[in-house]
Amino acid sequence: MIEIHDLTKVFHAGEVDVHALRGVDLSVTRGEFVAVVGPSGSGKSTLFHILGGLTPPTSGTVHIDGRDLLAMTDAERTNLRKTTVGFVFQKYNLLPTLTAAGNIEIARDIAGRGAPRDADFDQVLKLLGLEGRLAHKPRALSGGEQQRVAIARAIVNHPALLLADEPTGNLDTENSTAVLGILRDLNDRLGQTILMITHNPDAAAYGHRIVKMRDGRIVE
Ligand SMILES: Nc1ncnc2c1ncn2[C@@H]1O[C@H](COP(=O)(O)OP(=O)(O)O)[C@@H](O)[C@H]1O
Ligand SMILES: [Mg+2]
Repeated sequence: MIEIHDLTKVFHAGEVDVHALRGVDLSVTRGEFVAVVGPSGSGKSTLFHILGGLTPPTSGTVHIDGRDLLAMTDAERTNLRKTTVGFVFQKYNLLPTLTAAGNIEIARDIAGRGAPRDADFDQVLKLLGLEGRLAHKPRALSGGEQQRVAIARAIVNHPALLLADEPTGNLDTENSTAVLGILRDLNDRLGQTILMITHNPDAAAYGHRIVKMRDGRIVE
């Protein structure tokens, strides 16, 4: 599913070079749920932004779903973000003027698979326990509900890979447990491949495998 080889990323910040990734090798097979842990600044978010086609790497190779990410055109990378990779962030990044349903539907529209809703759209809502909350705008939803909407938006186009960057970072224990349970359910029931960044050991334990990063490298 994901094959990363000798990946590096150098940011040029004024006079200094920041080596965010210093040669990362990682394989993730289809259906895995992998937790990525490591201290702040170790390169976790940079790795995710590269996987999502949001940031170009400095060197190395990345294959996602058999396709060479670095060989893609801009249009192909945009398409990757719309259809192959789903993102969930610590801050839910919902559009405040749209309802929960609108926030989810817009992801389908962008990918060119708008209305009518079909059975699998309804299945996603049911799995996430959102059926009763669809008419509400984000401000009327709890943090846990907003994150569930964000997860629905991320998976509604059936991405090959779901990337979650600190998905429970803003949530209390009860909502964290609910969101992590949902991620595990998506993995168990739908075989969704998930790569999740977290600094919380309890959250990391939901993964099948824990990958540790430090100073731009995977250390175990
Ligand atoms: N856009 C950027 N410009 C300059 N430096 C950056 C940028 N993004 C990240 N970095 C630096 O790269 C390193 C890794 O950051 P990041 O991937 O965000 O780590 P993590 O997510 O593990 O906290 C840090 O030293 C950070 O300051
Ligand atoms: Mg980060």
